[in-house]
Amino acid sequence: MVKKNQTLGEFIIDNQAAFPYSSGELSRLIRSLRLAAKVVNHEVNKAGLVDILGLQGDTNIQGEDQQKLDVYANETFIQTLINREIVCGIASEENDDFITISGKNMDNQNKYVVLMDPLDGSSNIDVNVSVGTIFSIYRRVTPIGTPVTKEDFLQPGNKQVAAGYIIYGTSTMLVYTTGCGVNGFTLNPALGSWYLSHPDIKFPENGSIYSMNEGNYVHFPLGVKKYIKYCQEEKEDRPYTSRYIGSMVSDIHRNMIKGGIFIYPKSSKANNGKLRLLYECNPMAFIVEQAGGKATDGFTRIMDIQPTELHQRAPFFCGSKNMVDKAEEFMQKYG
Ligand code: AHG
Ligand code: MN
Ligand code: MN
Repeated sequence: MVKKNQTLGEFIIDNQAAFPYSSGELSRLIRSLRLAAKVVNHEVNKAGLVDILGLQGDTNIQGEDQQKLDVYANETFIQTLINREIVCGIASEENDDFITISGKNMDNQNKYVVLMDPLDGSSNIDVNVSVGTIFSIYRRVTPIGTPVTKEDFLQPGNKQVAAGYIIYGTSTMLVYTTGCGVNGFTLNPALGSWYLSHPDIKFPENGSIYSMNEGNYVHFPLGVKKYIKYCQEEKEDRPYTSRYIGSMVSDIHRNMIKGGIFIYPKSSKANNGKLRLLYECNPMAFIVEQAGGKATDGFTRIMDIQPTELHQRAPFFCGSKNMVDKAEEFMQKYG
């Protein structure tokens, strides 16, 4: 029977039923992230008001410092996961090191670790432009019941169990994959419920949008410079349209719906670009591939890179399959 207006909760239950032997741990974890996302969403929505209400100083009524939104988002996601005792470890773009979570009796029996970029697009917070949260979930590789180690976090993206993002935009959406396609849910803020608004999202194979910070053109490798000129050429379906928000989540979300390519390449100033492999590239790559798109560093599949450091960066080419193929041709030819 066709289900209409299905909520995220109903969707999780339906899909869990397809895996009769699963313990439901992953479902509970996604529910926890969904809760934290609502709390952060509420804060993002009143970001402008906080300034008005906070005129007397930078402290709130309890005398605490008002927190920058990315610190707030970081604390909210971490605290929610701690409270629900649902993971054994967390690594965040905002923390120097990973966090070990132990349960009441110090014998945390959970098997998942979460890696996250709690607030993506920080430079857009103050100007009312969409920002996001990105998360990535792995099964730990060290024995359950022992403290997590770096090894549990330094896994290649192809080992991800689930990944998703929340986009705090004109509406708030949660988009995620558990390796069986990609589904998008839109928050009804009046009810606090997420509704399946974008079932089985497919990345168009071709597109006409290219997204990159062209201000850095002089620092880009020759392959990217040549590809930009290719995008701007008047030929066949070109020139393409340039769209760059500066919040990767929003740029990739738009491209996934409309067709396009997002590039954050290496540059003469940063050999591995800017974006973080574990918190940004891998989860987005998993989602993009699950939707039929492609994600590489210009040469190698992002999810096949073996990480060596928590905060490691990687050049990122991601989007419509045929567009990424073409950009890679330029990288291979010109470097
Ligand atoms: P974050 O806010 O988590 O530090 O990430 C910002 C990232 C990404 O969202 C965006 O695509 C990119 O930085 C923008 O960088 P530039 O300003 O260099 O274009
Ligand atoms: Mn980011
Ligand atoms: Mn961030």
